[in-house]
Amino acid sequence: MMDFFSKFCCVKGSDRKNQGKKDSTWRIFSLKELQLATNNFNYDNKLGEGGFGSVYWGQLWDGSQIAVKRLKSWSNKAEVEFSVEVEILARVRHKNLLTLRGYCAEGQERLIVYDYMTNLSLLSHLHGQHSAECHLDWPRRMNIAVGAAEGIAYLHHYATPHIIHRDIKASNVLLDSDFKAQVADFGFAKFIPDGATHVTTRVKGTLGYLAPEYAMLGKASESCDVYSFGILLLELASGKKPIEKLSSTIKRPITDWALPLARERNFGELADQRLNGNYVEEELKRVIFVGLVCADNRPEKRPTMLEVVELLKGDKAKFAALEDDEMFKGSVAADSGTEDSSEIMSEDKEPKQEIEDVKP
Ligand SMILES: Nc1ncnc2c1ncn2[C@@H]1O[C@H](COP(=O)(O)OP(=O)(O)OP(=O)(O)O)[C@@H](O)[C@H]1O
Ligand SMILES: [Mg+2]
Repeated sequence: MMDFFSKFCCVKGSDRKNQGKKDSTWRIFSLKELQLATNNFNYDNKLGEGGFGSVYWGQLWDGSQIAVKRLKSWSNKAEVEFSVEVEILARVRHKNLLTLRGYCAEGQERLIVYDYMTNLSLLSHLHGQHSAECHLDWPRRMNIAVGAAEGIAYLHHYATPHIIHRDIKASNVLLDSDFKAQVADFGFAKFIPDGATHVTTRVKGTLGYLAPEYAMLGKASESCDVYSFGILLLELASGKKPIEKLSSTIKRPITDWALPLARERNFGELADQRLNGNYVEEELKRVIFVGLVCADNRPEKRPTMLEVVELLKGDKAKFAALEDDEMFKGSVAADSGTEDSSEIMSEDKEPKQEIEDVKP
């Protein structure tokens, strides 16, 4: 505990030097201030609820809009996760990662304060309250794909120590006033110890985005994030959900739907119908093919996030090699690489959500 707070003071102290730079400062909020800002955590202010608790919209005395994440009731476990999230967010700064404004820890309350993202989440535009309004034209989708990839690549390759996100999904890609992607929620992230290629830990994350090896064995690694990001890319381009419910018993993973169409180069069918045919075929093809290779069931086949960024930005040689892969050739029934996923999705074989830590 002491250790945690001494680190805090350190960060805060060094930030004081940067007072001119508004974006790099963060502070501790009082509970009173956050209660005032959110109308006492009024139900009408609630933006939604996730694995950690509820998120409320609020407005500070200076008029700025905030989103306050109110963690579920106190427990030791929650304390660990709270400090993890706060410490990580306090350090990591990137144009495509959601900036932390501060936190509050008073009595039983644990609150994290972020900038409010006026365009909410990618989820709300693809499948939620904004989906009918069609704000996501193709250029915006392409920017979101590249931006989110850059944010995650930063976590994997440039943040010290490296960070695995573990919960990449459409509700965790927020959109600012310019529809720029802001990847949120590092609550599940843990530091990758030096020399370790993966960290075995609790399986968290959301069904449909989980890499099969993570769902079954609880082995988290950067390539699990790559898998989740692949699902996200397919979702972004097609407007389909990660798992479509075809009937009360049949669920279809997005990869099973997209791979045969990709092999046929049937981009008209793959593109979100809400785009009305207004998309750049070369770019759509990139997003779909990269999405599919990221979501390959074999972790060793998946690219790194740095490669994903290059591919999405249009590296011609790299993309030609990808398109040439056996995955995109031949008959659908052959080695689709997705046959295991339907097993994971079947009702009686849901992955265990809580696999006990092997390494604490
Ligand atoms: N800064 C923010 N600005 C606008 N909306 C936000 C912000 N932070 C979170 N939200 C939205 O509030 C809702 C609740 O977020 P929360 O993170 O608690 O749940 P989640 O993203 O659905 O799941 P998870 O707990 O796995 O992250 C989500 O719809 C999310 O997109
Ligand atoms: Mg979230």
